[in-house]
Amino acid sequence: MNAASFPLVEAHGLARHYSVDAGLLRPKAVLRALDGVSFALAAGRTLAVVGESGSGKSTLARQVTMIEPPTAGRLEIDGADVAQADRSRRRRLRRTVQMVFQNPYASLNPRKTILRALEEPLVIHEPEFGAAARAERVRAMLARVGLEAAHAGRYPHMFSGGQRQRIAIARALMLAPRVVVADEPVSALDVSVQAQVLNLLMDLQDETQVAYLLISHNLAVVELIADEVLVMLLGRVVERAPKARLFAAPAHPYTRALLASTPRLDAPADAGDRAPIRGELPSPLVPPSGCAFRTRCPHATGACAEVVPPLEAIGPAHEAACIRWREVG
Ligand SMILES: Nc1ncnc2c1ncn2[C@@H]1O[C@H](COP(=O)(O)OP(=O)(O)OP(=O)(O)O)[C@@H](O)[C@H]1O
Ligand code: SF4
Ligand SMILES: [Mg+2]
Repeated sequence: MNAASFPLVEAHGLARHYSVDAGLLRPKAVLRALDGVSFALAAGRTLAVVGESGSGKSTLARQVTMIEPPTAGRLEIDGADVAQADRSRRRRLRRTVQMVFQNPYASLNPRKTILRALEEPLVIHEPEFGAAARAERVRAMLARVGLEAAHAGRYPHMFSGGQRQRIAIARALMLAPRVVVADEPVSALDVSVQAQVLNLLMDLQDETQVAYLLISHNLAVVELIADEVLVMLLGRVVERAPKARLFAAPAHPYTRALLASTPRLDAPADAGDRAPIRGELPSPLVPPSGCAFRTRCPHATGACAEVVPPLEAIGPAHEAACIRWREVG
């Protein structure tokens, strides 16, 4: 395995369960927001996570950024088991993984200049830098994300949404992380600036080999920048494939329905038989037995209610969790 393919993030059966109120006088219920998710992400690569609202994408992001501990499973970052890491190691691992949020308005403090917002990570993690050296690094980073270095003294409200997201990206990159988790990084932006911000992310990846865990509802975004895609449904991965394969030959009926629900520029010719998802998303507190898609799947049979279909290899680097993938494909 060469350096480029060495995984920077490895998840093995990650789970996060929440105890929630199920209603008056009822015992607490367990909500399995994440339920046994595994993947590997290497330097310079982009792994996209897609799925309906509530499928566990942001919960996964909070795991990888170490904001919340897993209920079960193992997370390795840069070869280290996060649960076993001591304080100083954890501190270094936190530097390794940074986050870009959906809303650039909420993620920047309106009372801080851009200089203060961007130098903050350096103040915390690299106290040996003096103010002049920090300001120099901030200016260099602003230029790198396509903003005027001279604007470092301005406040967030003086920038457009797209510029603010560039600032948020710049801040995430100040400590030269090796992994950036981006949760819907462009969905709050005007469509006209989404592509610019995505292009910026791709350019930065070419320059630095940073790895992205990209969470997005928008399959057009995924198609543009992902290398590999995980499709999630109620806390589990139901399909995993290299991007080109996922779009050309989606195997799981849920993936096919998600693709049919999203307008795309170049839908494959055989997409005509695919219908968007119909029916209600089941409650995450009472998921269906067996396959979590069965209440909405046009191909469901009695057998689909019996066991949770395991992810199985169905092609090169392609896995799906549907017992009928051969018949429905
Ligand atoms: N702190 C929490 N306590 C209880 N339940 C939670 C908590 N955080 C998330 N959940 C639940 O876990 C499930 C997964 O939520 P999550 O936010 O990860 O979904 P998502 O895929 O990011 O959805 P969206 O596309 O809407 O952002 C949901 O049912 C959600 O209500
Ligand atoms: S396992 Fe059954 S219900 Fe689930 S996606 Fe496959 S055919 Fe549909
Ligand atoms: Mg989310």
